[in-house]
Amino acid sequence: MIGLTDEQLREAIAGELLAARDRTSGLTDCVDDGELTAQHSRLMSPLVWDLAHIGNQEELWLLRNVGGRDPMHPEIDPLYDAFEHPRSERPTLPLLPPAEARSYAAEVRGRVLDLLSGVELAGPPLLRAGFAFGLIAQHEQQHDETMLITHQLRKGAAVLAAPAPEPAPPGRLPAEVVIPAGPFTMGTDTEPWALDNERPAHRIDLPAFAIDTVPVSNAAYQRFIEDGGYQEPSWWSPQGWQHRLTVGLTAPLYWTREDGVWLRRRFGRVEPVPAEEPVLHVTWYEAEAYARWAGRRLPTEAEWEKAARHDPATGRSRRFPWGDQAPGPQHANLGQRHLQPAPVGSYPDGESPYGVRQLIGDVWEWTASDFAPYPGFKAWPYREYSEVFFARPGEPAEYKVLRGGSFAVAPVACRGTFRNWDYPIRRQIFAGFRTARDLPDGS
Ligand code: AVJ
Ligand code: FE
Repeated sequence: MIGLTDEQLREAIAGELLAARDRTSGLTDCVDDGELTAQHSRLMSPLVWDLAHIGNQEELWLLRNVGGRDPMHPEIDPLYDAFEHPRSERPTLPLLPPAEARSYAAEVRGRVLDLLSGVELAGPPLLRAGFAFGLIAQHEQQHDETMLITHQLRKGAAVLAAPAPEPAPPGRLPAEVVIPAGPFTMGTDTEPWALDNERPAHRIDLPAFAIDTVPVSNAAYQRFIEDGGYQEPSWWSPQGWQHRLTVGLTAPLYWTREDGVWLRRRFGRVEPVPAEEPVLHVTWYEAEAYARWAGRRLPTEAEWEKAARHDPATGRSRRFPWGDQAPGPQHANLGQRHLQPAPVGSYPDGESPYGVRQLIGDVWEWTASDFAPYPGFKAWPYREYSEVFFARPGEPAEYKVLRGGSFAVAPVACRGTFRNWDYPIRRQIFAGFRTARDLPDGS
């Protein structure tokens, strides 16, 4: 989106909208109407809700707010307002049936493409560098990840398939990388489609720390399990241990043990847990317990971002660990190209200046940090995207920050500054983690 002519920007926007819709169709055309309207988990909406919500948000932001058009079906707005109805109750709503949800989303899209061809993109702030269109392309792709999470929760025969990632290149990597003390720039003022919570850019000075070169693998996580990690309260925080007991956590979600072998269910297929893959489907509490067991801790969000973006040679922060170029298949496992993370040590071309790998793609990484605004934050373009989820001073924080994006995240909704958040008890999301540690002063 940077340095494009007006015509190229319009084409890029149309391309992103089309890519998102292809993915939405792929995730909803592969199951029948019964499966689209069913609730596969109380944690998730029926797929048909996501489908119409995608269309409804697009209508709201682009046709009404940007285009000044009248609502197409005002009576359905409350059904698709995420704040009106929690996910668990959405199946009981008089939702648009699948065929109508599809045609509504398609009709909105047709009108949006008309709007795009005529609208003045340099005009109002909402349209600077096509921001409102970028917001909507990212929104649809975020729901495509949400729908993929629903697919993973769904029981029954497999309907999705994708090739496995390549094995990691041979050779041993150092277990951790040292990030020397010093300031760096966190967040952004220049990324055109960055969301409000990624702004503004600000300087953060960090003491030296060390961070894992790669995410924690299934093999490493199995050592924690085998060492009795789930039985030893001292590895867990009090809230974590309480949660571990309440829901009976004994292993990552989707794992079962048969004849001494760990198996996992992945999009309807059961297979041995691959040792070299980053661990997936753990709560923040499990990540925290593993880190304590390993004599380490989770990285803060600022540490993660410094390890990912800071270039010590130039002193500036990159858009991505590998540089400023958009992600290619050589850099990262993104975009549901594969339906699983790549083995740890993959993507040498995607490593950061410090040599940290797989920061982008593969698994969302839990950080130690609560979701809070950067200094100088301004809600944009609506409070409900980020602000209502921020920790409030003096109250216990609800959400932890995840960074980096998973294999299910589209490039358009992923960058070094991107921030995701969820409750520390959640593990249906495509989340794993890496660990860090303090270094003695003066290193
Ligand atoms: C940023 C992933 C937490 O799914 O709740 C979708 C993204 N916001 N629709 C979410 C979002 C509005 C959001 N997360
Ligand atoms: Fe949404």
